[in-house]
Amino acid sequence: MSAVRDHRRQDSDSESSQMPTDNAENIGSDSVPAKQVRRGVRDRKLFRCLVGQSAAMRAVRQEIEQVAPTDATVLILGQSGTGKEVVARNIHYHSKRRNKAFVPVNCGAIPHDLLESELFGHEKGAFTGAITARQGRFAMAEGGTLFLDEIGEMTMAMQVKLLRVLEERVFERVGSTTSIDADVRIVAATNRNLEEMVNLGEFREDLFFRLDVFPIRLPTLAQRIEDLPLLIKELTSRLEKTSSNSVRFSQDAVIALSQYDWPGNVRELANQIERMAIKYPNSLVQAHNLPKRIKAHMSDEAGHDLNLDDLACVTDEAERPLQGHTAPRMHIPAEGIDLKSYMASIEINLILDALDKAGGVIAHAAKSLGLRRTTLAEKMRKYNIDRDKTPRSPDNSC
Ligand SMILES: Nc1ncnc2c1ncn2[C@@H]1O[C@H](COP(=O)(O)OP(=O)(O)OP(=O)(O)O)[C@@H](O)[C@H]1O
Ligand SMILES: [Mg+2]
Repeated sequence: MSAVRDHRRQDSDSESSQMPTDNAENIGSDSVPAKQVRRGVRDRKLFRCLVGQSAAMRAVRQEIEQVAPTDATVLILGQSGTGKEVVARNIHYHSKRRNKAFVPVNCGAIPHDLLESELFGHEKGAFTGAITARQGRFAMAEGGTLFLDEIGEMTMAMQVKLLRVLEERVFERVGSTTSIDADVRIVAATNRNLEEMVNLGEFREDLFFRLDVFPIRLPTLAQRIEDLPLLIKELTSRLEKTSSNSVRFSQDAVIALSQYDWPGNVRELANQIERMAIKYPNSLVQAHNLPKRIKAHMSDEAGHDLNLDDLACVTDEAERPLQGHTAPRMHIPAEGIDLKSYMASIEINLILDALDKAGGVIAHAAKSLGLRRTTLAEKMRKYNIDRDKTPRSPDNSC
């Protein structure tokens, strides 16, 4: 087995790479075992969830909506665990490339000398261990999206090669002189300060400008702590789907969690919830049950940043259905909204929910929406909703 293959196996253990590619064709391919396919499908669904109602997350969602339909290169910036990959997947999912592959590459996890063949592929005999020709991730992402994660870890030599592909939209396999066209949308992410790296001579300025076409900056969890109850709700319900344990948090526990600074952001929160569910299975966790590290940040300043209404969704079992049949009073943000697309996104979400609950049976979904079957089918066509591949708008719904 070549060094490249050895590396791929390691890579596939990481969360972001459980499914190296994300389109239906690849899911069905022989190279992906059935168990992994099922896990991959579930992971993709989870990855689309972009929970948060804070102003910062609403702005991120708006940016995703603006940029997704274009082919613009996107640079996602944010600390570790803030949801960069979630955003990248949402961009792909809401783009016209959504039926093609989403291919993640962790530039920091792949040994420098293998990254070129990993990205561009290689010919048989191109280097020691290249016993067969192999396509790279650019080819795998043809027509789709290539997610270059941890782009700040790329060597200067590799940056030059990547820049050329971004400029000329062609690449060559290692060991070949034949140019191959690349119709690939690039989404890159990093938790490093690329501008500072440019100033230090560690990152090419020309590549930075190529990538920085549409930057999306993700807030830390501490900067959007008001989203904590919604995130706890989402992460506990994910846990319920993947394990037999669950857990609930008392209000004082949620307030204590909100006073912690979360250096590992949402990922750390997910890990803490999993830990609590193991320690206190199917129980109500109180503030005094929390790990010492979190309790050390507790203060008497009761979580004034939290919307106490949201706490109910953390401690209550029941999901709140739509109240009556009228929408709650809403407020438009200062910058205004595009009412038409907003209303469409509400309609799409309700249709998706109805389809989900009806197990994809259009007639049942139509009934729960008070529509005729043909009207629902027409709306599904209009919004390009496939009942088997339920698309989601980048909001709280998962
Ligand atoms: N807004 C969010 N809503 C729901 N879950 C989220 C959100 N942001 C992050 N997560 C969850 O947190 C975990 C980490 O997210 P992700 O891998 O996208 O972070 P990241 O910024 O890429 O982290 P790293 O820099 O360490 O790679 C995942 O399990 C993801 O599903
Ligand atoms: Mg990541």
